[in-house]
Amino acid sequence: MPLPPPAPDSTCLITGASSGIGAEIARELAQRGHGVTLVARREERLRELADELTDAHGIRAEIVGASVADHDGRAELAAEIERRGLAVETLVNNAGYGSAGRFQDLDPDGEEGMVRLNVEAVVGFCGIYASRMVDRGRGSILNVASTAAFQPLPYQATYAASKAFINSFTEALHTDLAGTGVNATVLCPGPTATEFADEAGMNSFEGLPSFLVDDARDVARAAVEGMEAGSRSVVPGVHNVISALGGRFAPRTLLLPALGRFYPYGR
Ligand SMILES: NC(=O)c1ccc[n+]([C@@H]2O[C@H](COP(=O)([O-])OP(=O)(O)OC[C@H]3O[C@@H](n4cnc5c(N)ncnc54)[C@H](OP(=O)(O)O)[C@@H]3O)[C@@H](O)[C@H]2O)c1
Repeated sequence: MPLPPPAPDSTCLITGASSGIGAEIARELAQRGHGVTLVARREERLRELADELTDAHGIRAEIVGASVADHDGRAELAAEIERRGLAVETLVNNAGYGSAGRFQDLDPDGEEGMVRLNVEAVVGFCGIYASRMVDRGRGSILNVASTAAFQPLPYQATYAASKAFINSFTEALHTDLAGTGVNATVLCPGPTATEFADEAGMNSFEGLPSFLVDDARDVARAAVEGMEAGSRSVVPGVHNVISALGGRFAPRTLLLPALGRFYPYGR
């Protein structure tokens, strides 16, 4: 039972649900009848989405406006969900951000904060919920990595490394959880049309052909189907599977300079 069925006292905790892939994953889960707990810093956006999901699907949609980047905030969030009488049976660690540029030119605080959000928060929430799920004998965890996980990326050094961590961590966690009734899946999207690229200073993936930029709804559907199937890893789209294979197996001496040419910083 990789994705536990909906129940009145259970919820799907989705971080980074105020936009992009997280919001679409919330829509996918709600339309399957799951209650959701939406978390991000922009509370107004969460409220709008919660109203939309409740109206459309009659599910219980909770919101918590908070940052998940620090330990105490995560502990407080978990306590708040418990106070509301809900058990997290599905955990979607989606919140994350990137940056672009030569590492030495980027804001050091932004790079450090990226590791706290993209890496620490994922391990932190898995730490809070994996053992509780095992005790209940059911649960599903989705950690959002990226095709950036499959090779180092010049000009996105911290981001690619953070996603490599999530990919490695989740694939191992999937095996640690085998036989417990709990599943962990890593989602590795390629470039996807969300607020991500602009937030990262990448100008809406300028220069990439549009057929290489995915729709967040397609990515979210693939993710939830992967959770339903109990998959270890989901790489949505054939183009991304090819890119992941290239990233895994191409010799670094050829790959790194070639990748660098895609970015304005490397020309
Ligand atoms: N778009 C892509 O091309 C792409 C490709 C591969 C992987 N990904 C990954 O997909 C995930 C979702 O990104 P997206 O593309 O959907 O980008 P997005 O539209 O920018 O969404 C990012 C989400 O993270 C939330 N967030 C950021 N900092 C947070 C914090 N401290 N605490 C809580 N929430 C926080 C944001 O909400 P608030 O600002 O309201 O807090 C927002 O809801 C990320 O992990 C990203 O690395 C994206």
